[in-house]
Amino acid sequence: MKIKVLIILSGIIIITLLACETEPSSVPLTEEENTPDTLAVPEVNEATGLVMDETFPLIIAHCTSCHSAKLITQNRATRDGWASMIDWMQATQGLWKFDDHEPQILDYLAKYYGPTESGRRENLAVEEWYEL
Ligand code: HEC
Repeated sequence: MKIKVLIILSGIIIITLLACETEPSSVPLTEEENTPDTLAVPEVNEATGLVMDETFPLIIAHCTSCHSAKLITQNRATRDGWASMIDWMQATQGLWKFDDHEPQILDYLAKYYGPTESGRRENLAVEEWYEL
């Protein structure tokens, strides 16, 4: 008899303990918290490594038939710099003229493969040194 009471009591205690276990907070995230940072990073095409946007098909069509897209993704240049590389390929490497598409292609190249900022901070502007 006593044993049964003990078993029932411990059952009640266990069930109560389980029920009290705290659930992880289920407060919904605000819209800001729920927006992943990765949305700001442009999507990259796996096969070529090129950034995918509306100009991407043009880049595939005009820039990847002679050489790897790596030549693009590993380079950094201003819009003018890209224009002169294209001029050079057109003058010496048999690259065709793009006509109307050239500004769009240059915008793409300058936007995603423009010069990157230096990783180092600026030197400190020291007005006066301590006397040691
Ligand atoms: C008709 C063939 C052809 C096409 C199409 C072509 N290129 Fe090139 N490109 C070349 C050749 C050839 C080289 C020199 C490759 C080498 O040095 O190994 C080159 C070199 C480059 C380089 C390296 C330049 C340097 O100074 O090191 C870049 C960057 C480049 N191309 C970007 C592009 C871009 C952007 C496009 C599209 C707008 C493009 N290429 C389309 C033929 C082409």
